[in-house]
Amino acid sequence: MQMVPCRSYSSSPVFHFRLPPPSISAYVLLLLGFSAVFFICSQRQIPDVDNKVFFSETSPAILEDQLWDSPSTLRYHPCVRPTHKYEVANTWDRYITVRSNGGLNQMRTGISDIVAVARIMNATLVIPQLDKRSFWQDSSTFADIFDEPHFIRSLRGDVRVVGHLPKELESAPRARKHFSSWASASYYEDLAQRIWKEYQVIHVPKSDSRLANNDLPIDIQKLRCRTLYNALRFSSPIEELGKKLVERLRSHGRYIALHLRYEKDMLSFTGCTYGLNEAETEELRIMRENTNHWKLKKINSTEQRNEGSCPLTPKEVGIFLQSLGYLSSIWIYIAAGEIFGGQTYLEDLRFRFPNLVFKDTIATSEELNKFASHATQSAALDYIISVESDLFVPSYTGNMARAVEGHRRFLGHRPTISPDRKGLVVLFDKIDKGELKEGPKLSQLITQMHKLRKGAPRKRYGSLPGMKGRNRLRTEESFYENPFPECICGNGKTVHNI
Ligand SMILES: *[C@@H]1O[C@H](CO)[C@@H](O)[C@H](O)[C@H]1NC(C)=O
Ligand SMILES: *[C@@H]1O[C@H](CO)[C@@H](O)[C@H](O)[C@H]1NC(C)=O
Repeated sequence: MQMVPCRSYSSSPVFHFRLPPPSISAYVLLLLGFSAVFFICSQRQIPDVDNKVFFSETSPAILEDQLWDSPSTLRYHPCVRPTHKYEVANTWDRYITVRSNGGLNQMRTGISDIVAVARIMNATLVIPQLDKRSFWQDSSTFADIFDEPHFIRSLRGDVRVVGHLPKELESAPRARKHFSSWASASYYEDLAQRIWKEYQVIHVPKSDSRLANNDLPIDIQKLRCRTLYNALRFSSPIEELGKKLVERLRSHGRYIALHLRYEKDMLSFTGCTYGLNEAETEELRIMRENTNHWKLKKINSTEQRNEGSCPLTPKEVGIFLQSLGYLSSIWIYIAAGEIFGGQTYLEDLRFRFPNLVFKDTIATSEELNKFASHATQSAALDYIISVESDLFVPSYTGNMARAVEGHRRFLGHRPTISPDRKGLVVLFDKIDKGELKEGPKLSQLITQMHKLRKGAPRKRYGSLPGMKGRNRLRTEESFYENPFPECICGNGKTVHNI
């Protein structure tokens, strides 16, 4: 998705670049030579520089650039073109219809999975229906959110996609099929053998997490990326307003997109009531009791928080960003729904960072009117602004945080700082108890803690140790959080395996 031209990084996602072997070694030699010269020069300069300057809080200018740098100094680029073995799709006369479930990001990644499934099963895909009954209560159709003609066109060589079932098949019997979660390619191949003998149409009621993260053919993985990052472009009203809002933010300089998951449903679901009053705690508890599909009813908020399983509070985010060295003049865009407690809990964060803005602060009510009653379309604006930001900070994990982080990795490892919530809580509690003060010491601890959490290039994590079967598949890092190495290629040099 090439949404905004103002980024310096503008490599096309399908651009495939390889240096021939001799020039790689020449390049490495050159680089070595250059580093040696640079090293000698920088050694010479050291006596001139007051060492303390580098660590002092009072000299933000020196830190300033480091705060925004892409964590990758090596060259990585998107690589999503099919391999030479890949064949152009046939016009199969059997169809998959699907209802895509969840919020925006669950739908986007789910649709990318289903496109790949249609490819494996040699089927034609009918444009997905979007779930209108879910929590999101959004009546948007596929074409309201995505550029449908572009979707069909850009997948032409991969999977045939059609707007509707052919007339003669509308009343044909359909196999209704709940696909297994995190399934392998062979699962779908076996299924195809059986199902197409009996049916010409299958209906899939849920699209999310239908494919495993790992151990799939390379061309299937690349297809998932082509779908998510190329084919699923937002519809032009969304794309255009998103671009406008990014430009407005940019006019003030760099900006941070903060995915602040301090929303009522999130706090209620996680049972996190730290810092809230009794009435609020009770309100959240009742909401949890009454939401049937949230299985966990009794939650000890303190334990939950100590495990790092609570979204950071707005105040904690403020301390966090300030400790990392971000200046109070920076613009922060809050990508989120309604913040719990309204302005109350935002006060401390706003005190530290007065240029705190929301959609409705940077867009006119006229501009937002047509999106207002469509949660999914609003979320798409947040998505665009987050992907394009100079720094993305999610206060909690989730589909949006994962999707945005993955997309930023794909576009050239744009920085994403993932707060170490478990580690931070220990520090925040010390501050509460008066054992630690905000200042250089805290700043150093927090900076150190996040050295390796800035979205640097690395291979996708496998499952947690000792996990078997479905739990193994469940605990693997999501393909869409980090499509490395299948869709992001390096120049052959070492990759930090962190
Ligand atoms: C799909 O079609 C190709 C030939 O185009 C064939 O090699 C492959 O086995 C088919 N796959 C399934 C699951 O039917
Ligand atoms: C919650 O857990 C904390 C820490 O384990 C414990 O001190 C506290 O008593 C627990 N609260 C309740 C209501 O069980």
